[in-house]
Amino acid sequence: KKTAPLPDDIKSMKGTTPIVSLTAYTTPMARMMDGVCDFALVGDSVGMVLHGMPSTLGVTMEMMILHGQAVARGLTTTMLVIDMPFGSYEESPKQAFANAARIMRETGAAAVKLEGGRHMAETIAFLVARGVPVMAHIGLTPQSINTLGGYKVQGRADQADALLADARAVADAGAFSVVLEKVPATLADRITAEISIPTIGIGASVGCDGQILVVDDMLGLFTAFKPKFVKRYATLGADGEAAIRAYADEVRARSFPAAEHTFSDKAPGQ
Ligand code: KIV
Ligand code: NA
Repeated sequence: KKTAPLPDDIKSMKGTTPIVSLTAYTTPMARMMDGVCDFALVGDSVGMVLHGMPSTLGVTMEMMILHGQAVARGLTTTMLVIDMPFGSYEESPKQAFANAARIMRETGAAAVKLEGGRHMAETIAFLVARGVPVMAHIGLTPQSINTLGGYKVQGRADQADALLADARAVADAGAFSVVLEKVPATLADRITAEISIPTIGIGASVGCDGQILVVDDMLGLFTAFKPKFVKRYATLGADGEAAIRAYADEVRARSFPAAEHTFSDKAPGQ
């Protein structure tokens, strides 16, 4: 019987097979990608995508665990990774371990993801040494939006060496992979060539070892805004709006429900 890959299996895909991943927040969405994606990420983007929050800063441990449990119920052969929310890991390695352990214990996730490069290396090493596989996330790190000064491209020009140093630091600390968000393609390619762990690109490069997108973005379900790096593979939001309008029209015209949706007095049990 096929089982989900482990963080080490994902790591060993570098240089062999492109790693396919999407975010997921609910059981039905997890079922849609089960066995198709190599891993599913319960991203803290859940706050913006499903809860209408203005940023990821208000996302809590309880939200990550609740959505993590929902996604876990929909996965059998795809690995589950869960984001550590803002404020749950930055203070100290001990704080990070307590919260990472809680996420893994209460959801069954195989790994956690956290944002930060060199300054999080000590924490990543602390977690990995204690049984918590870590996916790192550098470049545009949305939890730091107030210090980064907006959702802009990271690592351009004289910032490039610093981002490469971040990538090296998280790899050396034992992360099994690293998300590169919104960085120039040439820099993403350089990082991918120079570090030993897989790079997972979002707004990065086709040369990354894998790709991730927010599932609601690529399905056209989240339409409040569309970053340049999003490709819409479907228009479920527009389809949903049209369906809701059709339903409303039919209710007002008394053409729904039709005979096939209602019950006669005769056949019991139907
Ligand atoms: O929260 C999220 O969805 C993420 C991915 C975009 C990598 O961190
Ligand atoms: Na995230």
